[in-house]
Amino acid sequence: MTEPKRYTITAALPYANGPLHIGHLAGCFLPADIYVRYLRAKGQEVIFVCGTDEHGVPITIKAKSEGKTPQEVVDFYHRQMADAFKTFGISFDIFSRTSNKVHHETASDFFKVLYDKGVFKEDITEQYYDEDAKQFLADRYITGTCPRCSFDKAYGDQCENCGSTLNPSDLINPRSTLSGNKPVLRETKNWYLPLDKIQAEFLNDFIESKKHWRSTVYGQCKSWLNEGLKPRAMTRDLDWGVPVPITEAVGKVLYVWFDAPIGYISATKELKRADWEKWWMDEETKLVHFIGKDNIVFHCIIFPAMMHEYGGYIMPTDVPANEFLNLEGQKISTSRNHAIWLHEYLADFPDRQDELRYVLSSIAPETKDSDFTWKDYQARVNNELGAILGNLVNRILVLSQKYFNGIVQPHADYKRDPRFDWKELERTINIIEQLTENYQFREAQNELMNIARMGNKLLAETEPWHLIKTDEKAVGEILNLSLQLLMQFAKTAEPFLPNTAARILKMLNAEALDELPANHQLGEPAILFKKIEDEEIDKQLKKLNSSKEAPPHASLVPQKEEITYEDFARMDIRVGTILEAVKVPKADKLLQLTIDTGLDKRTVVSGIAEYFNPNLIVGKQVCILANLAPRKLRGIVSQGMILMAETPDGNLEFVSPVAAILAGAIVK
Ligand code: MF3
Ligand code: ZN
Repeated sequence: MTEPKRYTITAALPYANGPLHIGHLAGCFLPADIYVRYLRAKGQEVIFVCGTDEHGVPITIKAKSEGKTPQEVVDFYHRQMADAFKTFGISFDIFSRTSNKVHHETASDFFKVLYDKGVFKEDITEQYYDEDAKQFLADRYITGTCPRCSFDKAYGDQCENCGSTLNPSDLINPRSTLSGNKPVLRETKNWYLPLDKIQAEFLNDFIESKKHWRSTVYGQCKSWLNEGLKPRAMTRDLDWGVPVPITEAVGKVLYVWFDAPIGYISATKELKRADWEKWWMDEETKLVHFIGKDNIVFHCIIFPAMMHEYGGYIMPTDVPANEFLNLEGQKISTSRNHAIWLHEYLADFPDRQDELRYVLSSIAPETKDSDFTWKDYQARVNNELGAILGNLVNRILVLSQKYFNGIVQPHADYKRDPRFDWKELERTINIIEQLTENYQFREAQNELMNIARMGNKLLAETEPWHLIKTDEKAVGEILNLSLQLLMQFAKTAEPFLPNTAARILKMLNAEALDELPANHQLGEPAILFKKIEDEEIDKQLKKLNSSKEAPPHASLVPQKEEITYEDFARMDIRVGTILEAVKVPKADKLLQLTIDTGLDKRTVVSGIAEYFNPNLIVGKQVCILANLAPRKLRGIVSQGMILMAETPDGNLEFVSPVAAILAGAIVK
């Protein structure tokens, strides 16, 4: 492509079944945002589309485990994610969702067009079916014994003990997680995208033309193609998703990876009702997908195959997929709670979004996996942002106030000042732009900091605080030059550190200016970056460790001393319903619950805040030890205790009746 006329930029639609963590940000949303902000600043025509991916089996499982409908789950996480993105300055033009009407219509139409063209291959296969629940079972709904390691809770698609990929038919003694019964095999018809055929006709050449892609991305594509693609079912026997729009397929939905990428198109339709096609069907549009490496096959192979078969769509020009971000030397894990959740970071470090953006870009996993550690975060914020940038801005503004009351002094030609190499600054800005266009944001941000270093060097070499005694005019010029440098810094930094850039421009009182004229009145200096103290870091490290310290295996905990039936009978255990749940302010671990015990509605303070989202447990039935002596916790009287079971990985689960039961039922 010659110079593109416009840009369609997408960031992978996150699954709406859990909160966002720093891996999401580093993997795709932050680099996408930097790229988009850069393009906008260059005056390019660009749209940045995203939204929540609200279908798929994990969402239905999450809903079931929390006694909610899938819609309730995705509604909650859609809001939470939209808030987190907004606060971090991820500047989507639209953050849509795949459960909305436009998307259902778009995805449905897409399928119908391919169906009418005869693209799909129909195939009848045997799938596990639960005769009690009267439904086919997605792989995740089947558990059994792993044929490789004998772990007895392997899933139909994977054993989480030994990591093997499985088919449901590999499991020894399979069970339905819906009813606990043995599932039966039943025939079902599904519609397959013939990727083998599309590979020969199109994909081989398409990928061959993408040798300039990141080697990790191109390499993964090549290895899929070398293996030889197989037809993949685009319909599923499930009741949550976009219904398959053909009469023969009632009760089936589109495969989540069929509908999700179409979500980019639906979001564009919402945003650009009148002319959405030009963003997807015009050869002069450059389409770029920002994703994590686990999404490569879907964006580089399957979605292009779908668009190719539909006809008229442009193909992605680039897919700058990132590798993974680890945390303190280990994989980020949602189930083990080994993660830094964005909403928790914001609560613990309010108004320090740019600090996290900076650190995540500094260690961006662009070519290989990288590691976030809290100590490194602290060091980069204090020694780089604080000591290099914050200090520079502060010195220039404070000196300007002190010597000239914040008035910019004249300079005949600051770009040719012999005390400074302005050409070098321009070269650096140029390099930053080139690196950004090449998706090398890590290196680009590194160069950005070199501009601040140049400023510090100028001050160190000219020492205005000494010079002021002998040559006030020279100091006025040096400060003029320094302020112009800050101005350039702020503009160049905007894609990376949008809040910081805005604050610098405000201190310069120059939001609407390109350079600072003589006699311009500056704004007030303020501290840009607060120091991150050791205690704050210790607290974060403790939080990480406490949430994942695995309990001793239950079989290693000796049985307690014998008691009599009378001892047991003194405990009054009842089934209660959670009516309300809220976090106890300033207590990380505590939730305040209102429980309907059948006897009364009472308050129980429970140490489960790290394990459950308060909004998602309302309505849950639990067991409560009702006659435990009341205790005061954080000033709140707690009347009773909720019974919990600890899982092998240290998570907590409620002990709940298997069938819904009236609140107050006595446990005996
Ligand atoms: N929800 C997927 C994930 O989190 C990404 C979907 S990207 C899209 O891995 F292209 F399908 F939208
Ligand atoms: Zn196994």
